[in-house]
Amino acid sequence: MVQLHEMIFRDAHQSLLATRMRTEDMLPIASKIDQVGFFSLEIWGGATFDVAIRYLNEDPWMRLKKLKEAMPNTPLQMLERAMNIVAYWNFPDDVVEKFIYYAKKNGIDYFRIFDALNDLRNMETPMKAAKENGGHVQACLSYTISPIHTVEYFVDKFKQLEKMGADSLCIKDMAGMISPKRAYDIIKGCKDEGIKLPMDLHSHCTSGMTGMAYQRAVEAGADILDTAMSPISGGTAAPATESVVAALQGTEWDTNYDLALLIECREYFLKIWEKYRHLHRFDALKVDPSVTLHQVPGGMLSNLIFQLEEQGARDKYREILTETARVREELGYPPLVTPTSQVVGVQAVMNVLHGRYKVIPKETKDYCRGMYGKPPAEIHPEIMKKVLGPKWKEEVIECRPSDLLKPIWNEKKKELMEIDGGRLIKKDEDIMTYILYSAVGLKFLKGEARAEFTSDQLPLPIDHQFTRAMIKQSFPEHKQLWLEIEPPEKRKGTPAQIPTEYEVEVDGEPYTVKVIPTGGFMVAGAGSAAAAAKPTDVEGGVKSNMQGTILKIKVKKGDKVKKGTIIATVEAMKMEQEISSEREGEVKEIFVKEGMPVANGDLLMQIL
Ligand code: CO
Repeated sequence: MVQLHEMIFRDAHQSLLATRMRTEDMLPIASKIDQVGFFSLEIWGGATFDVAIRYLNEDPWMRLKKLKEAMPNTPLQMLERAMNIVAYWNFPDDVVEKFIYYAKKNGIDYFRIFDALNDLRNMETPMKAAKENGGHVQACLSYTISPIHTVEYFVDKFKQLEKMGADSLCIKDMAGMISPKRAYDIIKGCKDEGIKLPMDLHSHCTSGMTGMAYQRAVEAGADILDTAMSPISGGTAAPATESVVAALQGTEWDTNYDLALLIECREYFLKIWEKYRHLHRFDALKVDPSVTLHQVPGGMLSNLIFQLEEQGARDKYREILTETARVREELGYPPLVTPTSQVVGVQAVMNVLHGRYKVIPKETKDYCRGMYGKPPAEIHPEIMKKVLGPKWKEEVIECRPSDLLKPIWNEKKKELMEIDGGRLIKKDEDIMTYILYSAVGLKFLKGEARAEFTSDQLPLPIDHQFTRAMIKQSFPEHKQLWLEIEPPEKRKGTPAQIPTEYEVEVDGEPYTVKVIPTGGFMVAGAGSAAAAAKPTDVEGGVKSNMQGTILKIKVKKGDKVKKGTIIATVEAMKMEQEISSEREGEVKEIFVKEGMPVANGDLLMQIL
């Protein structure tokens, strides 16, 4: 018998609906799903925490509690990014331990733990904490293709994970590129080596080979397969649950699930798929076997396209794919999964836009220092030199990255208690939300977050900004269609080919930016109605070399700066980039504020 791990409430909508499914759309069907008898249900972790507080104005802890109440019979599972938890950077042990404790307390039974680099040192603390709190540990290895990632590599690491106390094991093929032979060889290899733990295969349909890989996996002895209910399956999401159940009926691997009951659930999710239609992306549903060559996962691909559009370089797409593969090799073949996918992807974009390793984000430096863990293969020494300088050897750490971090729970708790007289802490879990996402978390706890939409507003009308964005992305060539979906007042007299208005998002808040003929720009809408006009050039002007949001201004008026002094940091492509002065002198004028969006070439300061 084979069992299924159902992912409709996490991975499936993260892959196809931008992680936006709201709790009120999960609850009505929950009790029915609970009757199927799945091995486990994935409902939490991954991007669901971040998106809930950033875009949905939903408390992720409440979602967990409510789903647990609605589904008491099926083990609930979360995806946990080892020392990154549900964020994108390392936390100290005390935070990881407390997180696992609260997750278990609120309803998580199974913890699927993975590390982007498969550095097992990063998995020790969360695995130990999950065991201590009575949880089931499903230890995962990130799947990728490289000369390092052989069948023996995976079998050997799985053996170590069994020794470390895992309850089950999982191959996490986040990019959906595992071949039938690979799936068979790894699982068979593990079984032949005497690994006793149940083995799970997690994959996505991206390459088109996944159905065959699943078949070969069960032939090799896989115990669990990851699937999602059919309306939100296929494409960059997992194979369909009902199809896999039907395919295995009458064989030795029969799941024995009630197909009629599953079809009832399907009817419900068909309605959900229709409701969230403004999030559909046609590209996400197309089979893309090229993933086996470039190995860029679906989610990262759409991110790359978006980032290129942001930087006005959509035509560089092919170049970026080649560069991504090259950077990945130079950086020691990291699997491309959060957060290493971001490091490799952004460095590739920077290399194509500005020249190879001319602009190096902080995250690339951290990665080369070993701050994410040990890369699978050695990073090319000449790249180390470019990234960290001639004395790069002294900069590299040998220990587990979190060994360098001091406990922060108590200090952060105190910090939050001092804000608004402590009224923001309604439960201890709120401290965790604040630690994981300090700026976005604080805004959420203060009640200042706003939902992009609520369930009763769905489906969004055709001329809603989100629906329009979907249509523009799905039909990039059909400018006439774009015009037709503009609200009537905008349709008249506006030439379609010259956009005068852009929608940008700053910290989760949508802004409408209008281009006005003077060359300045005006921000209207959501957050502020303030107009910000500034000169486009002055003597001694220092300009931004990328599009993004000003994070920190590191100097003030009157400061003396040298060539190379860091004057500001910009958040671009979810990463922190430093901007240094190209000249020596005194800061005469600062034209930007922290939190302000800037475009490539925008004037930041005057230094004379
Ligand atoms: Co996945």
